[in-house]
Amino acid sequence: MSDSQNATDIVHSALQTLHEQGVHFHASNEVLARLAETAGQKSAPSPTRAAPQHDDTRPKHDLRAAFQAQMNTTPAAVPAPASRASARAALPFTEVANATTLAPATGAKAERLAAMRGPVLACTKCPHLVKTRTQVVFGTGNPDAELMFVGEAPGAYEDIVGEPFVGKAGQLLTKIIETMNLSRSDVYIANVLKCRPDTPPGEAGNRKPSTQEMQTCKPYLLEQINIIQPRVIVALGGTAVEGLLNIEKAGITRMRGQWQDFHGIPLMPTFHPSYLLRNQSLVEKRHVWEDMLAVLEKLDHPISAKQHAFFLPRS
Ligand code: URA
Repeated sequence: MSDSQNATDIVHSALQTLHEQGVHFHASNEVLARLAETAGQKSAPSPTRAAPQHDDTRPKHDLRAAFQAQMNTTPAAVPAPASRASARAALPFTEVANATTLAPATGAKAERLAAMRGPVLACTKCPHLVKTRTQVVFGTGNPDAELMFVGEAPGAYEDIVGEPFVGKAGQLLTKIIETMNLSRSDVYIANVLKCRPDTPPGEAGNRKPSTQEMQTCKPYLLEQINIIQPRVIVALGGTAVEGLLNIEKAGITRMRGQWQDFHGIPLMPTFHPSYLLRNQSLVEKRHVWEDMLAVLEKLDHPISAKQHAFFLPRS
């Protein structure tokens, strides 16, 4: 079999595998041909080495590299430092495979986000949420943001307005962002779950999204993160931490303020603003503020003496 036929077979077999895993590629013939070409190049024997023995696993690995190249991502073995100059780490293949591929792999971030917006707004993966939602809440802010805030799920206001964090908790988040000398349009704000969790009849308030709901919706968030490539992610509340890091019980009191690694992107867990609305103590406000100071430091943003001193007890 010729190298190019072999490469084409590899592409088709990998597409089939991904399809079976629920990952659907919408690629033109031209893109498929390019993939086959890349896979063919990668699996071609090196001129300076003896041709490798036939090995079933090898071409698949090479194909993954081809897909990575196509999706403009590279495996991040070592977390990238959060420096402005450094190349930002792309999500590794396993997570990208879980991400959706609704947007083109290249192009301006705003255009890529816009391309995935429509399909996400039309999502029907959770029929129970489709029935009760007013609309899907995609995300908002600067597609080129270096800072991304991730909450758990839209509440009642967000469900109506179609924008994350616009209710009371959202107003507090806006204040926090502005106290950091930023604005909502500097950062990107999204949720792990894009639909408002339904509440049992007769019950008011917000229900915590289930693990299943978050896992179903997470590929959209992964694709958003993969497009935006923020230098820092802030996870708002234990549920967002659980959804992002795939952990069962985050224990936000223990985890807040402790840097985590999200596939090479530093992730800061902090309290959800709605927790601060319920607990107005200076100590808790200071905790969140210290987390934001750490974020500003990580982003190399200047911090004034006044900012350093916010929410400290008066002596
Ligand atoms: N709480 C969240 O976690 N997200 C929102 O968008 C609103 C409230």
